[in-house]
Amino acid sequence: MPLDTKSYEIPVARSAADLREAVAAWRAEGLSVALVPTMGALHEGHLSLVDLARKNADRTIVSIFVNPTQFAPNEDFSAYPRTEAADAAKLEGKADLIFAPNAEDMYPEGFSTTISLAGVSEPLEGTFRPTHFAGVATVVAKLILRAMPDIAIFGEKDWQQLMVIRRMVADLDIPTKILGGPIVREPDGLALSSRNVYLSPEERKAAGQLNVILRETAASVANGAPISEATAKGGKRILALGFEKLDYLEVRDAASLAPFPNDRPTAPARILVAAKIGKTRLIDNMPV
Ligand code: PAJ
Repeated sequence: MPLDTKSYEIPVARSAADLREAVAAWRAEGLSVALVPTMGALHEGHLSLVDLARKNADRTIVSIFVNPTQFAPNEDFSAYPRTEAADAAKLEGKADLIFAPNAEDMYPEGFSTTISLAGVSEPLEGTFRPTHFAGVATVVAKLILRAMPDIAIFGEKDWQQLMVIRRMVADLDIPTKILGGPIVREPDGLALSSRNVYLSPEERKAAGQLNVILRETAASVANGAPISEATAKGGKRILALGFEKLDYLEVRDAASLAPFPNDRPTAPARILVAAKIGKTRLIDNMPV
C-alpha cells in the first residue's frame, strides 16, 4: 500500500511495511528518527512532545492509535475522541510522518502476546486499572519495534506510564532512548488532556483546582508534614470541590512508585492523584 499523501499535507503510513519503508529511506540518508506515540485528539501537550522530538532528532513520526487493549470494558474506548484530520492539520510543519494503523493491522487474528510488568505497574493506576499497563506496554513495544526510532518521547502527565516504559525498555534491551516531556497546563493549571472535553463548565472549574491542592499538599510534605496527614487533608479538599471519587492521592518514590516506609520522603518523590468528576477521570502529578 503506498503512503497516503492525498488527504493531508503530511504523509500517513497505515501499515508496518509502509512505516518501515519510510524509516529505511531516512536511515539510508543517515538521519536520526524520533517517535511520539499518541492516541490522537492532539492538544498542546502532545505538540510539546513533537517539538521536543524535533529538537532531538532529524525526523519525527507521530503515531495515532486509540489502543483498544489499554481500555477496560467499562472505560471510554468507543467514546474516546477520534479527530484524525484535525490532528494531521495540527502536525503540519512539525511532524514528518503520521503512523495511523487500524486495530486489525496491530492485532490480527491470533494475536497472543502481552507484555506485563510487575513492580512499577502495580500500584496507583495498576490498582484501579489492572489491565491498563499491559495494554500500554504491549502497544508501545510494538510501535517501537515497527519504527525502530533512536528516541521515543512520552509526557510526564502520565508519570507512571513513563516509568513503566522506561522499565520495559531497560528490561527488554530495547535500544531506543526514552525522553520525558514536562506537563503542559491550562492557565489555571489544569493539565491538558484529551478527556477534558468531557467536562461540563462547572466540572471544568473544579478540575482547575486539582493542581492547586496537589501543589499545596506537595509543599506541606516538602516542609516536613507526614505524608499520610498531608494526603488525608488534600484528599478531603478534593472531595469538597465536587469530585465524587478519589482513587488515590499519594506521595511515592518518583522512579519505583513504592511508598515511603516512614511516612516521609527519603528519595526523590512525586505526588500523584487520580479522581473522578462527573464521568471524567482526571490524573495529575508533580515533584515534591
Ligand atoms: P495519549 O493520552 O494520547 O498521550 C500521548 C502522550 O502525550 C503521552 O506520552 C502523554 O503523557 C502525553 N501527554 C498528554 N497530555 C499531556 C500534557 N498535558 N503535557 C505533556 N504531555 C502530555 O498516553 C497515551 O496516549 C497512550 O497510553 C500511548 C502511550 C500512546 C499508548 O497507547
